[in-house]
Amino acid sequence: MQNIIKKYGIIGKSEVIQNILNLIDQIAKTDISVLITGDSGTGKELVAKAIHEQSLRKHSKYITVNCGAIPSGTIESELFGHKKGSFTDAHDDRKGFFETADGGTILLDEIADLPLAVQVKLLRTLEQGEITRVGESTPIKVNVRILTATNKDLQKEVAKNNFRKDLYYRLKTITIEVPQLSKRKEDIPLLADAFMMEYADKNGLSYKPFSPNSMKLLQNYDWPGNIRELKNFIQLAYIFEKKNIIQPETIIEHLDIEDDSKNYDTRFPVKVNKNSEQIERELILRQLFVLRQEVEDIKKMLEMNINANNFRQNQLMDISNVMKNIHSVTDEKDFINDTKEVKTIQEMEKEMIQATLKIFNGNKKKTAKALNIGERTLYRKINEYKLR
Ligand SMILES: Nc1ncnc2c1ncn2[C@@H]1O[C@H](COP(=O)(O)OP(=O)(O)OP(=O)(O)O)[C@@H](O)[C@H]1O
Ligand SMILES: [Mg+2]
Repeated sequence: MQNIIKKYGIIGKSEVIQNILNLIDQIAKTDISVLITGDSGTGKELVAKAIHEQSLRKHSKYITVNCGAIPSGTIESELFGHKKGSFTDAHDDRKGFFETADGGTILLDEIADLPLAVQVKLLRTLEQGEITRVGESTPIKVNVRILTATNKDLQKEVAKNNFRKDLYYRLKTITIEVPQLSKRKEDIPLLADAFMMEYADKNGLSYKPFSPNSMKLLQNYDWPGNIRELKNFIQLAYIFEKKNIIQPETIIEHLDIEDDSKNYDTRFPVKVNKNSEQIERELILRQLFVLRQEVEDIKKMLEMNINANNFRQNQLMDISNVMKNIHSVTDEKDFINDTKEVKTIQEMEKEMIQATLKIFNGNKKKTAKALNIGERTLYRKINEYKLR
């Protein structure tokens, strides 16, 4: 069986993830409604998006409605639309999400929070493929694929009379259960690496690999916030890690875990259960990051050099301007007579030539050019001032 690394944006090689991906392949091209369940941060929205993107509706609208975030008083009109005057604030006829998503897919997220009265209407839409705007009596046909998601146990909600039994049975026909990350720990290294690469790439930073022991720590942790928590933690680890490789100490410090790192044998690399093609691909990716970093470093060095050159160039421009002034001032004999306290032009010229020669490591051609004098004049002055 070939291990899956990333498909439809979903990373994972665990059997459970492979089963989910297979199920997506089987059902994506149908119009069947799908219930996606799983704890917070497990990737339910990612699964819903994957279904839409593999469906024949992929070029049409994909709308996500968070049923828990819309006030219960307005959710019916938000979903099904309303007729002008049907309630106080209904100043115009308005389309709801179902009509807007016509031809596409709608994800009703946090479906357990849908008020009971609206659940009846949803059941009708699922069964008849039609909606009725608030304040209207004539139904309108809509062609929308309905996906639903929840992190609550719908069966329990039914038992508590918070959720309609008939709707629950209608929804649960095809259920995708996205497992907690702690139930598929073999996916953690892949996810951690992928998030690290993504973070580094997005921010133009160098990739920081995990040391074998720090990866073990990540893999042993339970991640109550699931993939969302892991993703956020990777960013944190990157930010707080001072070295180029993520160290166990950084993980221990920022993740609420016991420090048992001393039990790890640091002499040997961890044995990874990957086939050669995957290892090769990961190595290439890492190499790319390292290369990219090196290119960045070279760019920085070049920039620094250019700046340094500019700085030198500016200095030399100043020197050469001073020299020009010196030449023009030497013509004014009165000035020389009046400036006994200050350095003589000759002393200044000598110092200037000496300093410029030093900048160019004694290169006469460059010194002459910088001072804006002929090379032969420079030789003459070097002899005259007995410069080395
Ligand atoms: N298998 C995966 N591969 C890559 N990224 C994933 C995977 N699963 C989840 N993610 C990422 O983890 C984060 C949380 O996923 P998502 O929003 O789909 O969770 P959820 O189950 O909808 O959570 P909630 O119930 O809190 O809304 C997202 O950034 C998502 O891209
Ligand atoms: Mg979600």
